[in-house]
Amino acid sequence: MTERFVRIAGWGKYLPERIMPNAELATLVDTSDEWIRARTGIGERRIAAPEETTCTLAVNAARAALDRAEVRAEDLDLVIVATCTPDYSNMPATASLVQHALGASHAGAFDLNAVCSGFLYGLTTASQFILGGAYKSILVVGAEVFTRILDWQDRSTCVLFGDGAGAVVLRPTQEPGGLLSFVLGSDGSGACSLYVPAGGSRRPASAETVAEREHYVKMQGREVFRFAARVVPDSVLQALDAIGLTTEDIDLLIPHQANVRIIDAAARRLKLPESAVFANVERYGNTSAASIPVALCEAIDAGLVDAGATVVMSGFGAGLSWGTAVWKWHG
Ligand code: ACO
Repeated sequence: MTERFVRIAGWGKYLPERIMPNAELATLVDTSDEWIRARTGIGERRIAAPEETTCTLAVNAARAALDRAEVRAEDLDLVIVATCTPDYSNMPATASLVQHALGASHAGAFDLNAVCSGFLYGLTTASQFILGGAYKSILVVGAEVFTRILDWQDRSTCVLFGDGAGAVVLRPTQEPGGLLSFVLGSDGSGACSLYVPAGGSRRPASAETVAEREHYVKMQGREVFRFAARVVPDSVLQALDAIGLTTEDIDLLIPHQANVRIIDAAARRLKLPESAVFANVERYGNTSAASIPVALCEAIDAGLVDAGATVVMSGFGAGLSWGTAVWKWHG
């Protein structure tokens, strides 16, 4: 039997047109461009138009990825949408809406919620279907309209997030490379460090939950910061170690784009030069599940990912959850 590897055959992103600079936020809450830049590295973020949803963002990114891969939607076997801001809070899955909008008439579809780690969970899950031989063409999308679950009166969270979508198409190949190693992790003891208190089975929506603003994101920022600064380098080292590589083998680290201080702390611990770490958080803020695929697209388009490059993607987020993948780029 010939050996089978997984390849990213296409990639695409979509960012809503509307840019909200920090100065605009300073008109909504007691904050400033200086504070946001100094504490997070964020300068601006994108805000979805009223008629846009997670599905429409996902579809735009998916179409670009399918075009690049030269794969027709009707040839897709599976559509995975990683999101924590689905079009409908319970059902149906946003992935089904995306599948229908694309005309992916032969594909199964499901949503995956690992919040900001969602794309890594989706990428590694989809890779198993390819490597196991079950499927030949899989679309993995990370898409969020995160700004719709933000409390625009809470300066400790509303300055951090933005909207966007990124997508990849996975295909099998006989050429060695692709997914070399991965680590997925979860620590549910930190569930309430970053969560939306109401709207689920634990606390269904009611007039009271709306009045108490419990349908918005609540976060213990310092706890999440400490967790992220630890888990990104730890999981990167674990994933490399599993295949006998070291940080010197990393050509490009694409970390989840939440805060430039978390990215810098991880880079310092991994002893990576600035040139080996991709960051675009300045322009988009934290787009949750979309952040890594959007960053991957921009890194590729900027010529930072050559054939044969070892790219390490590492995400973290609510759950608490994390995921790291070591990927040998096919070109
Ligand atoms: N503007 C001005 N002042 C602010 C703002 C703001 N937007 N937000 C908070 N402050 C104030 C606080 O009230 C506090 O004031 P006090 O000292 O008088 O109480 C002061 O600034 C310092 O607040 P800290 O919380 O200590 O600030 P810190 O340096 O920790 O930065 C931040 C806060 C940016 C939230 C940081 O903790 C962080 O990035 N944490 C990680 C968050 C993250 O990555 N979350 C996403 C995870 S991914 C996912 O799953 C969605």
